Amino acid sequence: MKFQKPKGTKDILPSEIYKWHFAEQKIHEVMDVYNFKEIRTPTFEHTEIFTRGVGEGTDIVGKEMYTFIDKGGESMTLSPEGTAPVMRAYLENSFSSESPLHKLYYITNMFRYEKPQAGRFREHTQFGAEIIGSDDYKTDVELISLAKEIYNQIGITDFSLKINSMGKKGEREIYLEKLIAFLKSNENSLSMDSKRRLVINPLRILDSKDENDRKITSEAPKILENLSDESRKRFDNVLNGLTSIGINYEIDFRLVRGLDYYTDTTFEFISSSLGAQDAIGGGGRYDGLIETLGGKPTPGVGFGSGIERILMVAERNNFEFPKPNHVDVYIIALNEEAKQKSILFLKDLREKKFKCDMDFASRSFKSQMREANKIGAIFVMIIGEEEMKKNCVTLKNMWDSSQEEIPFTEILNTLTPKIISSRTRFKYSAY
Ligand code: HAM
Repeated sequence: MKFQKPKGTKDILPSEIYKWHFAEQKIHEVMDVYNFKEIRTPTFEHTEIFTRGVGEGTDIVGKEMYTFIDKGGESMTLSPEGTAPVMRAYLENSFSSESPLHKLYYITNMFRYEKPQAGRFREHTQFGAEIIGSDDYKTDVELISLAKEIYNQIGITDFSLKINSMGKKGEREIYLEKLIAFLKSNENSLSMDSKRRLVINPLRILDSKDENDRKITSEAPKILENLSDESRKRFDNVLNGLTSIGINYEIDFRLVRGLDYYTDTTFEFISSSLGAQDAIGGGGRYDGLIETLGGKPTPGVGFGSGIERILMVAERNNFEFPKPNHVDVYIIALNEEAKQKSILFLKDLREKKFKCDMDFASRSFKSQMREANKIGAIFVMIIGEEEMKKNCVTLKNMWDSSQEEIPFTEILNTLTPKIISSRTRFKYSAY
């Protein structure tokens, strides 16, 4: 085969697309119940949205962006994440003049030049939600509750919630000084990667996967112990809110997340069904992001979740995705005259919203029957020479193999109740 898909991308084939449709539908449904509105932003943005928004020192900006100079000489980047573009759209469309609070969500493809492995792609599909305009701790709880509800609806049961607080900007800077001093005193023992991070993004050393780094950082100053009373109270309020709606959590001082914009609460949902890439979703507050992008100081909180990872977990949890509808009627027309007639029958049946099809490949009777079986047709309508002479069709019920003749003029009247009752009987019209 000459051409293959690019490394780290995937084809979603017709045989598995129903799982995607199911997940997407559940996301839309739950978002609606929580009164979030969908927003769609472009696939690419001016590069500066990410360098400024996500941060120069992050892996995403430093190593992973698909950036190109367009024919007008401008630097563009395929969106590696959704929050900065949504904030750009929020500012550009003056959302704040409409209402002080916005609850937005998106489902979109994202691009990161990462080393592909199970659950890690160079193009992945992410859904995310953002609440912009409030720093009320209840918005953090609302988002975590929303994410959990979506996971539950998609059949994900084995996940846990890790949570931390990064404090406000000023507190974080004071903490960083302490952390850097500690890390510098242990610099010689740190891994090469962490030595590099000490210069560009020291916080990320806390979530290094290297055993020895972890041993060292277990003794490092903890951000939660360095929060102001106000931030600590806010964090406790979030934790109490979660407890009050039955959401368990584990506080994790290593949870600093890979993007620079976080302040106060950060969280991640982890699944034990995944390997090294075990985060099915993550997010947190970003009270300074809108200002960084040129807007008035506006608080915000959000999360994002990879659909590929969610489907992997649901499959490992043996979740039974509802199968797509069977075909109600497959028409087998055996000569040209019968085929002409079938075009009309297809139109009439489809107007009733029945799912119908016929052969378009001039196949033999036998292979058309095989096709009807393959696509799970419930009824097969056969029109041959005999039928044309008698102005009728032979209707075969594929579930019980019964057969009857129906006059052309009676097809709709006879078939309608049969299709409706077969749908109820076999409960295949699942979503
Ligand atoms: P993130 O943690 O970088 O956060 O990505 C969110 C989720 O997207 C991850 O937990 C994971 O499920 C999925 N994901 C990320 N990268 C990949 C990949 N290469 N392959 C497969 N799945 C992936 C953000 O992007 C933030 N914008 C989330 C957010 C929204 N924070 C506040 N609002």
